[in-house]
Amino acid sequence: MNLESVKPEAAPHTALPEPPLAGGAVPVLGHGLKLVRDPLAFMSRLRGHGDVVRLRLGPKTVYAVTTPALTAALALSPEYIIAGPLWESLEGLLGKEGVATANGPRHRRQRRSIQPAFRPDAIPAYGPIMEEEAHALAERWKPGETIDCTSESFRVAVRISARCLLRGEYLDERAERLCTALAIVFRGMYRRMVLQLGPLYRLPLPANREFNRALADLHLLVDEIIAERRASGRRPDDLLTALLEARDENGGPIGEQEIHDQVVAILTPGETVASAVMWLLQMLADHPEHADRVRAEVESVTGGRPVGFEDVRKLTHTNNVVFETMRLGAAVWILTRRAVTDTELGGYRIPAGADIVYSPYAIQRDGRSFADNVGFDPDRWLPERAKDVPKYAMSPFSVGNRKCPADHFSMAQLTLITAALATKFRLQQVAGSNDAPRVGVMLRPNKLLLTPVLR
Ligand code: HEM
Repeated sequence: MNLESVKPEAAPHTALPEPPLAGGAVPVLGHGLKLVRDPLAFMSRLRGHGDVVRLRLGPKTVYAVTTPALTAALALSPEYIIAGPLWESLEGLLGKEGVATANGPRHRRQRRSIQPAFRPDAIPAYGPIMEEEAHALAERWKPGETIDCTSESFRVAVRISARCLLRGEYLDERAERLCTALAIVFRGMYRRMVLQLGPLYRLPLPANREFNRALADLHLLVDEIIAERRASGRRPDDLLTALLEARDENGGPIGEQEIHDQVVAILTPGETVASAVMWLLQMLADHPEHADRVRAEVESVTGGRPVGFEDVRKLTHTNNVVFETMRLGAAVWILTRRAVTDTELGGYRIPAGADIVYSPYAIQRDGRSFADNVGFDPDRWLPERAKDVPKYAMSPFSVGNRKCPADHFSMAQLTLITAALATKFRLQQVAGSNDAPRVGVMLRPNKLLLTPVLR
């Protein structure tokens, strides 16, 4: 990570106290073991130790922020950059030159080149593809069969991103390859984040070999996508054209590595959407009363025709089901930043170069922000109740200059997928299904198996 801008000498905050050390640290490993064993419970309990707390991960001190207001302060302040354990573990995939990992002027320029593809007025153009993919998913499923939700969710998410943003019709035969590789790479990257075993990951062990193969294949796929577009001579009005033709700060063409990293940054969030789809499928199966309400709402809006993109903004309850699912099933469950200068957070001193971590999962399930905090209650998002939710307690797309550019894009596809599936099927978990959360770079149900029953 680029830490050139760290100013170790700036010290206006030395008089401030250090944040308290979270309880439960053990010699040598500190809090590391607890974080590895049960990260969700560990992160959720931290607020009991303070608004800002210190953690010891082996020899390293990491700071954790536990209140909605302070997570926003962190995300909105220019004194923190994208860096820290999460981003370092992702570097092998995302590179250093794409929008998700760059900082400073390069990041601002890259945001400008991708932003037009995600503006609210650009989203309707993706409507027909989202509709087609949502209905194709419902068509693929046969009543009574067992659906492996992991592969199905990956498939639909990657197809929508690739078709909408990269016009990747050619991706059809590559979708499986991409999904398999992404799953292996994200699993390996999470391991590398929480168990920093350095040289052990370079040994020729089967798990390391599988990881390296998957990572190489992902990069190869991206190179193929770029080479094919160039060879075709086509310049459709899409994000890939915008990336290929982007200019740097001096008006010159951007480098090949940056183009590559930018395409990776557009394809890899397919994993985030896929995780959100999995949580949605689980909620529809576990809360048939809400699935029924979704169906009733869709039918009252469409009068029985297939649900379409133009219906999305009228599907209030369906939207609330999606949002409430994202609250409880936070796909992005952990985020990190790094302080670029000595600074203050919540009245405590944060030294330059410190890594700060927070968990949207813990924030979004906190009983201090949400009544019946672990209950599934989509109606809490009705305007008359939503006003009671503390500011920033539910920010699944984050805030500030790193806010997800694809928030509208993602909400539209998740709402359409939910509407299309709930209209056609009742979903039931089957024997062998394991819906316990699986913690990786993203959070998703472990191995969700469902059977669709025709309505
Ligand atoms: C349910 C779906 C999604 C969720 C919950 C989500 C969530 C997030 C969050 C929380 C961040 C901010 C990270 C931080 O603050 O450190 C982020 C950044 C980002 N997301 Fe998403 N995302 C989703 C889907 C997507 C999709 C579909 C795309 C693109 C196709 C995308 C592209 C990006 C990019 C490029 C960034 C980096 C932005 C920057 O650093 O300026 N996301 N996302």
